[in-house]
Amino acid sequence: MGTPPGFCPRCEMAGAIELAPHGEPAPAPGKTLRYFGDYELLEEIARGGMGIVYKARQVSLNRIVAVKMILAGRLASPDEVRRFRAAAAASLQHPNIVPIHEVGDQEGQHYFSMEFVDGPNLAQVVRENPLPATRATRYVKTIAEAIQFAHERGVLHRDLKPSNVLLDPFDQPRVTDFGLAKQLTSDSQPSTSDPQLTLTGQVLGAPSFVPPEQAAGRKEDVGPHSDVYALGAILYHLLTGRPPFAAETLQATLVQVLNNEPAPPRALNATIPHDLETICLKCLEKDPQRRYRTAKELAEELGRFQRGEPIHARPVGQMEKTWRWCGRNPALAGALATAVLLLVAGIIASTWQARRARTAEHEQALLRQRAEETLGQMELQRDRAVKAEKQATANAEETRAVLQFIKDKVLAAPRPEGRAGGLESV
Ligand SMILES: Nc1ncnc2c1ncn2[C@@H]1O[C@H](COP(=O)(O)OP(=O)(O)OP(=O)(O)O)[C@@H](O)[C@H]1O
Ligand SMILES: [Mg+2]
Repeated sequence: MGTPPGFCPRCEMAGAIELAPHGEPAPAPGKTLRYFGDYELLEEIARGGMGIVYKARQVSLNRIVAVKMILAGRLASPDEVRRFRAAAAASLQHPNIVPIHEVGDQEGQHYFSMEFVDGPNLAQVVRENPLPATRATRYVKTIAEAIQFAHERGVLHRDLKPSNVLLDPFDQPRVTDFGLAKQLTSDSQPSTSDPQLTLTGQVLGAPSFVPPEQAAGRKEDVGPHSDVYALGAILYHLLTGRPPFAAETLQATLVQVLNNEPAPPRALNATIPHDLETICLKCLEKDPQRRYRTAKELAEELGRFQRGEPIHARPVGQMEKTWRWCGRNPALAGALATAVLLLVAGIIASTWQARRARTAEHEQALLRQRAEETLGQMELQRDRAVKAEKQATANAEETRAVLQFIKDKVLAAPRPEGRAGGLESV
C-alpha cells in the first residue's frame, strides 16, 4: 500500500519515520513502506481529535499492534503531551479494556502502542441503524463492568463515547483511549493549567457525551458518576442512533447538556422497552446524586433487565420533571409563575364578577316576579272589594226595598183602631 493519506514525513513527523533501512528485505508489494522506531506502519486506521492511529507491526516482537501518535507532532503543547501520556499510562489489564503495550517518544514524536482490535467501533456500528435493545444492553453492561474495574483501580475514563469502544472479532466490546484518564488519588490531580475548563472539544471530552459537571468545568464534581453518565449516553446512542445532545456547534451542545432534558429514547424509537429507557435516563440525570452511584450498580441493573426481573429505578414523573426544570431555570420559572399567577388572578376576578352580575340579575328577576305576584294579589283584592261593594250596594238596595215595602204596604195598611198592630216601632 502507498503512503498513508495526509502523512508527511517532512513536516509533522519529520525524522520520526524512516524508510526501510538498507540491508533489510524490501517490503512486499502493497505492504508497509515506512518504519517508525520498532514499528512498521501498515496503514492509517483513522485520525481522531488528538491523534493518528496506525495499524502496525512491532518488528522486535513480530506482532500486529495499533500505534497512536499525537496529531500535532512536535508542536504539541505540554498539556497535550501530558494528557496523551496519561492515556497511555492508564494501563489496565482487563479482557474488555484495550491494553497499552508501550509508551514512547521517537525523536520528539509522542506515541503509544496498544493491542490492535480488528473490528469497528460502536459509532461505526450504529451509523446505519439503532441496535436492538438486547444487543445494546449486552454491550453497555460489559463496558460498565470494565469501567468499574478501572474505577476500583483509581482510574476514571472521562472520555467514554461510542468511538472509544471497539468490537473485537468475538463481538466483545473493548474500551480504549482513556484519553482524559485521571488518577483518582489526590497526589496526581491535574495541574492548575489543565485546560479542561476551556471549550475546546478535545480537552473537554466529546461534548455530546460529557456529563454536565464536566461540561461546566466543575472538576471537583467529576467522579465515577461522570463515567456512569457517559455510559448512559452510549446506551442512548446505541438505542436511538443519536447522542442525547447534539447541536450545530460545540457551545450549543454544551448549553443543551447543562440545561435540557434529553428527548425520551422511546420518542425516537418506540421499540425500546420502558425499563431500559428508565435505566438510560437515570444515567443521564443532571444531578450526579440521582444517577447510579457506580458503574457496578448500572451493570447490575442492566443484568436485572436482561433477566426480566424488576429494575430498581423508577421513571421520573411529569410533575417532578417540571419541578426540576424550575430548579435549573429559576429566573424563567419565576417569570412564568408570575405570569400564571396574574392569569389565574384575572380569571378568578372575571369569574367572580360574572357570577356577581348573574346573581344580581337573578335577584332582579326574583323581585320582578314577586312584584308581579303582589300586583296580581292586589288586583284580585280590588276585584273582590268591587264585588263586595256591589254586593253591599245590592243588599242595601234590597233592604231599602224591603223597608219601603214594609212602610208602604204594611204600615200604610189599615189597622184596628187604637192599636199599632205591634209595628209602631218600624
Ligand atoms: N487499538 C485499536 N485497534 C484498532 N483500531 C483502533 C484502536 N484504537 C483506535 N482505533 C481506531 O482508530 C479510530 C480513531 O481513534 P482516536 O482515538 O484517535 O479517535 P476518536 O476516538 O474518534 O476520537 P478521540 O481522539 O477524541 O478519542 C477509532 O475510532 C478506532 O476505530
Ligand atoms: Mg479515541
